[in-house]
Formats: sequence, structure tokens, C-alpha cells
Amino acid sequence: MNKINIAGAGLAGLSAAISIAEAGFSCNLISLQPSERAQSVLAEGGINAALNTMGEGDTPEEHFQDTMKGGAFLADPNAVEGLAYTAPEIIEKLLTIGTPFQMDGKGVVLRNFGGQKKKRTVYAKSSTGKVIMTALIDEGRKYESSGRITRYPHHQVLEILSEDRICRGLKILDTYTDEVQYLSGPVIIACGGLNGFFPEFTTGTVANTGDLAAELFSEGVEFANLEFIQYHPTTVAIPGKRMLISEAARGEGGRLFIERSGKKWYFMEELYPELGNLMPRDVISREMTRVLARDDCEGPVCLDMTGISKKTWEKKLSDLREEIREYLSIDPAKEPVSVYPGIHFFMGGIRVDEGHKTSMENLFAAGECACQYHGANRLGGNSMLGAIYGGRIAAQSAMKLEHENYEEKTSYHISAEEKQDFYVSPKSAAELKGILADSLGIIRNGDDLNKGIERIDNLLKDNNLTAMEKKRILLGKAMILSALAREESRGAHFREDYPEADEAYRKTTVSRMGDGIEIYFRDIPERRESHEIQN
Ligand code: FUM
Repeated sequence: MNKINIAGAGLAGLSAAISIAEAGFSCNLISLQPSERAQSVLAEGGINAALNTMGEGDTPEEHFQDTMKGGAFLADPNAVEGLAYTAPEIIEKLLTIGTPFQMDGKGVVLRNFGGQKKKRTVYAKSSTGKVIMTALIDEGRKYESSGRITRYPHHQVLEILSEDRICRGLKILDTYTDEVQYLSGPVIIACGGLNGFFPEFTTGTVANTGDLAAELFSEGVEFANLEFIQYHPTTVAIPGKRMLISEAARGEGGRLFIERSGKKWYFMEELYPELGNLMPRDVISREMTRVLARDDCEGPVCLDMTGISKKTWEKKLSDLREEIREYLSIDPAKEPVSVYPGIHFFMGGIRVDEGHKTSMENLFAAGECACQYHGANRLGGNSMLGAIYGGRIAAQSAMKLEHENYEEKTSYHISAEEKQDFYVSPKSAAELKGILADSLGIIRNGDDLNKGIERIDNLLKDNNLTAMEKKRILLGKAMILSALAREESRGAHFREDYPEADEAYRKTTVSRMGDGIEIYFRDIPERRESHEIQN
């Protein structure tokens, strides 16, 4: 029987692999980077679960409601229900395998995070991703030694193998030896978000190139909600990327201000008294853009963390303080840090159903590469949860398949000519980034989006593009077309020419490569009466 193939060894991929191994099945875990260098280790602030250890009367139902509301009601409610109701058990399991979350005498300590009124975010200072990944990597090793998980590190997925729109496996390249191999069986894609489309503008790793997503898009796999890109309000430009100042800093008392008529104006607190500095990220990023444009205000916007107590710095944020000192030569306990929104998360991606099945049979997707759980805007603390839970659900769906045994073709050494098909030049990446960044900013409009399409079409006229460059440009075009098609403002997609939400667009935007790029809308499923959790 063929093994299940998992492309990507970050949180979603590892979660899928461990679920498969625990159930007595076997899998291949293929990744360019080792798990230790996956984007997931960069996740800082925490992971949400309604544990109610702080005596606030929190419940999974409230977690569900906040997630739906944060996502402006575009997520599948049945999938989100599974996520919110399973979260406490996921934390329990992470504790069981030795994840050192912050605890006190009464149990797990929770912190405030954006878009949520109750303390719900489990954390380990501001290195939560690192400690979770360390525990899962270790757990996975048990199954590597028994052969249930076979790792293919430093391997690039070149292609999905399919017959009659049924996924049959993967073609992979060993980037150290240039050997090409075929792996048969169902495939779970867990290749992360499209950070590589936005070098310098993103808090994520550009090692998540987006090339595999572009490959799948060119194969006709459906993508969804590509217009929804989350800008995190508190980031700082450093060489090659944007450094994240975790939302945890605001959760523990950090405050945003701008100089107005010579005085500090804590604009979020005045404009949004209920949640203030912890409003959802899209709201804060837009307000930052607006106050920066005001005549009576003088930028930059600064994050004032000077009121955070010594004890909180020491117990909860010591690593964040150290990082800011190290990279910015500022002690945040003593002076404010100038911040600006940066790209942080892609709510859109490969379209999946509640079981994480894509539009291609035998092909599944989980984690940031998939469009699930977050609707029009993700709540902080829900990404690692979505990756772990989504990986598990995708694994369960893949294990339910009748596994046939396909013969694997023999391996070969890649030729320079074939390798060229997968090459992306820095010039091509920079051109695409320039167009996407100009078109898909925090505040958008039809003119800029149409200009973006014109520029993309000009890029596509270049006869020297490699096959992969062309595929990336087409996926980029689908992102802009999705933003053009959604003539409303919702969550992270704000159009100044359509500034209100329009109920007619409470739908999923789907993009697919047919003869050309097709964009259409799908209804959002109703919440089931039974509240039956699928796990
Ligand atoms: O600000 C943060 O620590 C980010 C967390 C998240 O995106 O979930």
C-alpha cells in the first residue's frame, strides 16, 4: 500500500504526520527546510483555546463566535466549530508531550489577544511557535525510528502526479544530489503561505516561496479568498523582511500612539474604547494608515511599551525585549518603537472542504496554504491552532481513502534544461512583488487593481519567462482579480470605492485556471444543527 505523502514539515505537516503514524499508517514527510526552520517556529504570541483557567467564564462557543466574527462571517462555520471545540484537547495533548506553556499554581496562564474579549491565548513568552514545534519534532522522531514517518529533507516538490484529475502522488527533487524521485499515494499539501510573493514586505519566511501553490493553481486546483491578506499592525522593517512585534506586547499593555498637535494621541483607545489596542488587525492597520494621512498628525505611529511592569517583562516578554534590543538597538521598556503594518498572513489559499479535501481527488491541504477557518481576517492565536487541527483533519480524510498500490517510476538525474523550468529569477520575483504590493495594499481601489492587471499582462508578454515564473505571475493575477471581483469591504479587504460590507458578497471567492483565470463565488455552508464535531 502506498504511503500518504505530506509536502511541508511545519506545524500542519508535522501534525498530519503524527496523526497518521499514531493511527498505524505510514507517511512520507517532504520538505525543503527541516522542521526546525519552518515558518511555524517564528510564531510568537500564542495559540487560542477556551480553557477558562483565568476564571472569566470562557467557552468554546465564544471562541467559535469570535472567530466567525473576526473573519467577517466568511469561514465555514462547521469547520470553525470543530476548531474551537477541539482546541482545549489540543492544548492538553501538547502539554502531555511536554510543551512548556506558561503555568501558575492553578494551571495554564492565558493572555489577551486581538479581537477577543476574554483571555484565551496559551503562550510561552513570545516563543510559542518554537516550543510547540520542538515538542512535536521530538514526538515525530518516535515514529521516524519505527519507520511510520519517513523524512525527505532538502527535497523540493516539483509536480503533483495526476490522472483524470485524481492525484496519484508527487515528483520530488533532492536539492543536494539533483536526483528526481516519484512518490505514489495521496498527498497532503502543507507548504505554508505565499510569503515568497512578498519579499521584504512580510514577517514570514520567504523560504515559503509559493511555487508549489503556483504549480497547483496551474494544474486547475481551485483556490479561494486570495484577496484576503492580513497586515499585522506592529512590524518593523529590517533587511529582507519585516520583524514582528508580537500582539502579545499590546495584550500585556502596549499602546499605539501618534503625535497630534504636538501631543501623544492614543488613537485606538479613543476611537475604539471597548477593545482599543486589541482591535482586530485589519481595523488597527487601517486606522494607522488614516492617522498617518491626517494633516494634524505627524508620523510615525509608535508602540509604547514603557508602561509594562518589570515583572511582566521578565515573566512574559523577556525574549521580545531581547529581540528588540538586539535588532533595533532600542530598549522597549524605556522608549517607544516606531511601527508600521506588514504582511503577516494569507487567509486565502487552496480551497478545501470541511475534511480538508481540495478540488482534486486524493489531494488535501492544511495550514496557511489552505483557505479554512479564518474567513476574511484571522484572529491572532488561531493560526497555529488551525495548522495543528487542520493537519489532523486532512490526515484523517487521507486515511479514509482506499489506498491502491501504484507503481513508482524510476528516479533520474535532473537535466539543466528541466531544472530551468523551476527557476525564478530575483528580477521576476521583485517585479511581481512590486505589482502585488501596489495593488493589494491595506486600502485598495478599482483603478489601482486594474492598473495591476495591466502591469501583470505586460509581464506575461515576456518570452523569456521560465515555466515557474509564468505560473507565479498567473497566481498573482488571480489574487488581484479576486480583489477586483469583490466589490465591497470586508475584513482585511478594504476598497475605498466600495467602503461598506455588502451581504451579497458574504460568499467565498473562488479562482481557478481553466482556459484563462476564472473567478466565481460559492455560498458559505450553514452551521449544522447537531454541532457534531468532525475529529
Ligand atoms: O503578534 C503575534 O504574536 C502573532 C500571532 C499570530 O499571528 O497568531
